[in-house]
This record gives sequence, C-alpha cells and structure tokens, in this order.
Amino acid sequence: MLLSLESVTTYYGQMRILEGISLNVAEGEMVCLLGGNASGKSTTLKTILGIVRPRTGQVLLDGEDVTQWQVPQRISAGLAIVPENRRLFGQMTVRENLELGAVLRGGEKLDDDFDRVHTLFPRLLERRGQLAGTLSGGEQQMVAMGRALMSRPRLLLMDEPSMGLSPALVQQNFQIIKDIHATGVSVLMVEQNATMALSIANRGYVLSTGEIVLDGPASELLQSEDLKRAYLGR
Ligand SMILES: Nc1ncnc2c1ncn2[C@@H]1O[C@H](COP(=O)(O)OP(=O)(O)OP(=O)(O)O)[C@@H](O)[C@H]1O
Ligand SMILES: [Mg+2]
Repeated sequence: MLLSLESVTTYYGQMRILEGISLNVAEGEMVCLLGGNASGKSTTLKTILGIVRPRTGQVLLDGEDVTQWQVPQRISAGLAIVPENRRLFGQMTVRENLELGAVLRGGEKLDDDFDRVHTLFPRLLERRGQLAGTLSGGEQQMVAMGRALMSRPRLLLMDEPSMGLSPALVQQNFQIIKDIHATGVSVLMVEQNATMALSIANRGYVLSTGEIVLDGPASELLQSEDLKRAYLGR
C-alpha cells in the first residue's frame, strides 16, 4: 500500500481532533476525503505530511513506518501537498514559486518539469514573471498545483482544490486533477464538493468530528443515503 494510516489520533494541545483514523491509498488510486467544516480533513493531510504528529497510531509509506519522519523526508519519499488557501510566496514570481517545489530533489533538470506544468497550465507560462500575490485566485490555484508537481510526487495531497473558484473553473480544475491522475500520480483529495469529487475518484472516506463514519467505492458513496446523513449528523 502506498499510504496507510493506522488508528491515528492527532491532538492540538489537549484537544483531540482525529479519533483513531485508518485509511489507505493504493498506488495509482484517486481517493477523496469528505466531511463538513472542522471535521478534521486538513488535520488528516497535515498528519500524513508530518506537519503535525499523531499522539498514537502510525503513518506508513510503502509499508514503512514514517510516523517519526520530518516533513522534508516525506516529501523526498514522494509526498506533495496543494495546501488549503494555496500558500504561495506572494512577493516571488510564478517561476520562483514553481522552482521551490523542486528544491528538495536538488532543483536539477527543471526544464522537463516546467514543460509538464506549462502543458497543464499554459497560463503559467504567460505569467511566469508576474508576482504570485497579484494573480487571480484561479491562477494562484494553478501555481499551487504546479509547485506540487515540480517535486515529481508519487502521492499528491490536495486540500480543497476547488475552494474559491467559479463553477467554470471548478470544472476545469477537476479535469486537470483527472489528467494528473492519468499520468500515474496517486491522489488523496479533500473536498467539500462531494458529488464532484466522487465523480472522479475511485474511493472515498467520510470524516465526521474526527472519525471515519463511512467509506467505500466512489460509485457506492454517490448513491448513499448514509452520505447525506453523515453530513447532516455532524
Ligand atoms: N493549530 C491548531 N490549533 C488548535 N486547533 C486547531 C488547529 N488547527 C485546527 N484546529 C482545530 O481542529 C479542528 C479540525 O480542523 P481542520 O482544519 O482539520 O478541519 P477541516 O475538516 O479541514 O475543516 P474545513 O472544512 O473548515 O477546512 C477544528 O476544530 C480546528 O479549529
Ligand atoms: Mg480544512
């Protein structure tokens, strides 16, 4: 298994946020993590990347226990994140933001990676000299995705990639996520837009106040009355 969480509990101070979560992403899968506000979705991604450590339980990559690994080690092992709210360096150019994505792998041979990113996002080639802080929301999302791809990830973690985008851009964004997945990158995607996410994912998990209350193949979840209840029952 590419990624496994085993009975993970994560705390912020005294407050337990994740209540014993187990989930998997197999090589080549696209999995979505659904749930209402404050259910622990971003905390789950932060726990996978190592920004926060679980108090109990394990994070495994390729079956190896990486729970004590630092963030850079995990990125070098193939994880990348498109964080909530993009988190670009606003005073740096598009090009410089993209380059940062490749820093941990030595930042070498960037031309192929730039080509790949510019093929997905032609707009970013046009805007390569522009300060990231002056881009539109949709363009900033492209940079955040491009930056993550620059590290040549095996597993891409995405935290609400369609947040703040117009309906037309949301459609376009989901298509690009599908395209990225089709190139062999595994995906774990947090989304509030359950129907859209399930329509492109292989499987899904539903979080409610730090617990997984439902999981299964995307096609089953799409039909699920429990899914509606899980959201309403928060
Ligand atoms: N650094 C922190 N310190 C203390 N509490 C935190 C911290 N980060 C998150 N929390 C709390 O943990 C809970 C889960 O937050 P999290 O960001 O994981 O939720 P989420 O499911 O991503 O929500 P949203 O859909 O609003 O992004 C929330 O109650 C939040 O206030
Ligand atoms: Mg969140």
